[in-house]
Amino acid sequence: MALDPGKQDLKVGVVGAGAMGRGIAQVSATGGMSVVIFDAAEGAAAAAVDFIHSMVDRTVEKNRMQPDEGEAAKSKLGTASSLEDLKDCDLVVEAIVENIDIKRQVFQSLEKIVRPDAIIASNTSSIRISSIASACTHRGRIAGLHFFNPVPLMKLVEVINGTDTSAKVTQALEIIGKRMGRVPVIVKDAPGFLVNLGGRAYTTEALRIVSEGVASPFEVDAIMRDACGFRMGPFELMDLTGIDVNYPVSQIIYNGYFQDKRLSTYPLHESMMEAGRLGRKTKAGFYDYAEDGTIIRPETGSSISAEPATKVVLAEPSESLSALLRETGVAVLETDDGSSPIVADPIGEDCTALSNRLGLDSKRLVSIDTHTGVYSHATVMAAPGADDGSVQSVMALMAKVSGGVTRIKDCPGFVAQRIRAMIANLGCEMAQIGVATPEDIDKGMKLGLNYPLGSVELAENMGSRNTLQILENLQAITGEDRYRPSQWLRRRALLELPIHTPD
Ligand SMILES: NC(=O)c1ccc[n+]([C@@H]2O[C@H](COP(=O)([O-])OP(=O)(O)OC[C@H]3O[C@@H](n4cnc5c(N)ncnc54)[C@H](O)[C@@H]3O)[C@@H](O)[C@H]2O)c1
Repeated sequence: MALDPGKQDLKVGVVGAGAMGRGIAQVSATGGMSVVIFDAAEGAAAAAVDFIHSMVDRTVEKNRMQPDEGEAAKSKLGTASSLEDLKDCDLVVEAIVENIDIKRQVFQSLEKIVRPDAIIASNTSSIRISSIASACTHRGRIAGLHFFNPVPLMKLVEVINGTDTSAKVTQALEIIGKRMGRVPVIVKDAPGFLVNLGGRAYTTEALRIVSEGVASPFEVDAIMRDACGFRMGPFELMDLTGIDVNYPVSQIIYNGYFQDKRLSTYPLHESMMEAGRLGRKTKAGFYDYAEDGTIIRPETGSSISAEPATKVVLAEPSESLSALLRETGVAVLETDDGSSPIVADPIGEDCTALSNRLGLDSKRLVSIDTHTGVYSHATVMAAPGADDGSVQSVMALMAKVSGGVTRIKDCPGFVAQRIRAMIANLGCEMAQIGVATPEDIDKGMKLGLNYPLGSVELAENMGSRNTLQILENLQAITGEDRYRPSQWLRRRALLELPIHTPD
């Protein structure tokens, strides 16, 4: 008989009482399920119960839970002195050390202990579920249940389908995940699962941009925060998670996808790791930190020494640029007077390519990224050898209407277009290869990584044609396979279909 995931007296076993196990036990208990915790270390399970009691008490003190609900949750928690004590559990979630051999041993033991209809799930972040299950006889009831740290605050849970996981088990875990107060997404058993894979583009493209000398890490962070609405810039984020965590994860996922260049990181990442600049934890990373751990943010925003331009010429017709220029009050000349700045807002093109394509005077050409939050933060770029006075006068113009202005070096797609297109392309590729549904990919990115938009919906937000154009231009200009557009994106852009349209 199959397990009823909705049954009132559902019992959850948690193996491993560390940071994750504690959180999983807490959300199970607050979700009204009985919980029994086992840990191989003496006293660890009891310490976890004490810890969860104090967390629940704090939640009640903050009026986020009624006192009687808190008492009810606390009464649901118990400890086990051996794995055998988990025999009447309906679901066992393993959250022990990230070691394939030890996990396989625990799963082999558990399948002999629990009832035939019980589900056994792993909270692993990086080991293939099918690889753990390969040690077991009854593989249909083995799946991944991947939570995020800190579990009580992070709403997302990835339900990971191993090669042999039965559909009933996936459905049951979806229901149980909801009972735990989480938002479940159904994910394929592939390197990095959903969130860890989807998060690669943001940081690796930022590392490339900085390595090419286009902008500093602090400028990239400011643009991504202010113009694009990310809660953290990619470099602050890498510092927070630790370079010793995100560099190896990037390498595992890159190799897991057989060196797909779209997932590659850059030597700067490895250099930081080798230098021991691991981020917040070593009080030195891309940023420096004060003794008390406070991040030291260098001033960003380029200094502007010129008066705003009074006349400009448009490089080519652009509604968004014309609207922006109208707000600055600048006169837009019908014909080039041979001395005024020539302004443009290219999609995925650098100033060099643009001036070549249109036969423009590259010295006076200044490009503005009007396609991403320009009123919050304007990014301006020019080709090598550009006339500084022209660039400065356009920057001064932007300062009249924007919260901040950053001048970067010539770059196809500026900073924001380039990073956002890479995030969107990866989201679309994940939809194409069935890592999850496009809707679940979006949920995963927003809840798991706090992205302002899901990575698939981002393509639509930027315009799927524009996103495709940015990638095609990047690919053509750099000659790199890294910018190869996903077929999911290409088809929906060319057919003018909504980006979530299924295959
Ligand atoms: N920490 C995170 O941010 C995070 C996020 C998602 C998933 N994960 C995954 O969750 C799992 C646990 O991570 P964590 O950060 O809680 O680790 P942790 O080191 O805090 O805790 C692991 C616990 O497992 C116990 N343990 C080790 N071997 C055991 C065994 N054979 N039987 C029973 N108990 C055993 C240890 O005594 C320890 O208490 C790992 O697979 C990790 O990859 C971690």
